[in-house]
Amino acid sequence: MDKFIVEHSRELSGKIYVSGAKNAILPVMAACLLAPGKSVLKNVPNLIDLKTMAHLLRVIGARVDYENGSMSIDSKDVCYPEAPYELVSKMRASIYVLGPLLARLGKARVSFPGGCAIGTRPVDLHLKAMEALGAEIEIEHGYINAKADQLTGGDIYFEKSSVGATINALMAAVLAKGKTRMFNAAMEPEVDSTIDLLLKMGAKIEGKGSTTLEIEGVEELFPVQMEMIPDRIEAGTFLVAAALSTKPVTVCNCNPEHLTALLEKLRETGCGLQINGGDITVNPPETIKATNILTLPHPGFPTDLQAQFTVLMCLADGISFVEDTVFPDRFMHVAELNRLQADIQMQRNVARINGVKKLSGAEVMATDLRASAALVLAGLVAEGTTTVSRIYHIDRGYDRIEEKLNSIGAKIRREQG
Ligand code: UD1
Repeated sequence: MDKFIVEHSRELSGKIYVSGAKNAILPVMAACLLAPGKSVLKNVPNLIDLKTMAHLLRVIGARVDYENGSMSIDSKDVCYPEAPYELVSKMRASIYVLGPLLARLGKARVSFPGGCAIGTRPVDLHLKAMEALGAEIEIEHGYINAKADQLTGGDIYFEKSSVGATINALMAAVLAKGKTRMFNAAMEPEVDSTIDLLLKMGAKIEGKGSTTLEIEGVEELFPVQMEMIPDRIEAGTFLVAAALSTKPVTVCNCNPEHLTALLEKLRETGCGLQINGGDITVNPPETIKATNILTLPHPGFPTDLQAQFTVLMCLADGISFVEDTVFPDRFMHVAELNRLQADIQMQRNVARINGVKKLSGAEVMATDLRASAALVLAGLVAEGTTTVSRIYHIDRGYDRIEEKLNSIGAKIRREQG
């Protein structure tokens, strides 16, 4: 298993570039099953999770090719409505094929996803939404068996804001007979970009950017080409790295409108920010001011940046509180940060962080995708050497993070073994 050897390297400076958004590409790949023929996605990074989704689509009968950031998906011959355990257990986002398979083939058999390092992650909202559209669902031998000869429009109220359930329901509703209304739908940019793709394919959807969506089912959808949006979480990770630096850093190719909550918090810590189109320059403060964060559905502060921001607060002047309301158990990184001599105490889903003057390098273990990125950032500011093991987590969602950070002055080495 590969690991990163991270040397203290806090003088980051220059330009760092953001790739296409993994969490926007995953659902859009599944949505390509809805339109028989060849769709092409541009600005697609080389990530393990996207390879896993490509593998799943091939199992289902699609042809998927990837070259130079461009992915083509030919779904003409889709015929096998199953997402097997070996793939769903690797990546929960495999559940995204449920809606498209039901809509296109009238049936789906998807392995029931288990828990993961960020806590229990149920799929009840996905299933309720499919039932509201007329699907019959049975859980048997660890699999979700769903069928519907013809999905029919209906009202769906999400009792909790869910990115995945909103997108899955959208992908089913666009080919359902009649009108679907969704209430308390998620508003994350990844939901909007899926809506953009579906609209291009010929779907009828109103309410984009709000919590109420209206979908009028159509008979068929058509393949398209689409440029993928920049990854707001990769951008946010680099912005936090910049805030921890001693020199200005420019994060290029991002969408500042997707990052409002983080940018506001960075200002509160004392960072100077200059926004020029899709480029954000961070002038880091001499002393990082402590501030509190509360993760919430978009446009609130994203849970996927909670671990990285926690690292920033570890070095702040004063005490801060970080609360995760989206995934209350998502604090596996705290024990690892404390190994680096951070001073964090947990009380349920709230971390109380007492800022320290410096962190001290040690061996730490990555537990999930975003926590791993946080440990790399912590390694950059810790005195001496930090070894981050199990970095396969990071390769799931960051395209060559060490090369990108090294291009602005970080000292990170990948070691095999
Ligand atoms: C997506 C992102 C993930 C991010 C999360 C929240 C992808 C591939 N993953 O995950 O990186 O952290 O949004 O922004 O895009 N819930 C239920 N029942 C359900 C579904 C969700 O109770 O059926 C709960 C979850 O446990 C969680 C909350 O709803 O507490 C939000 O989860 P959700 O938005 O669905 O997350 P994902 O789509 O799985």
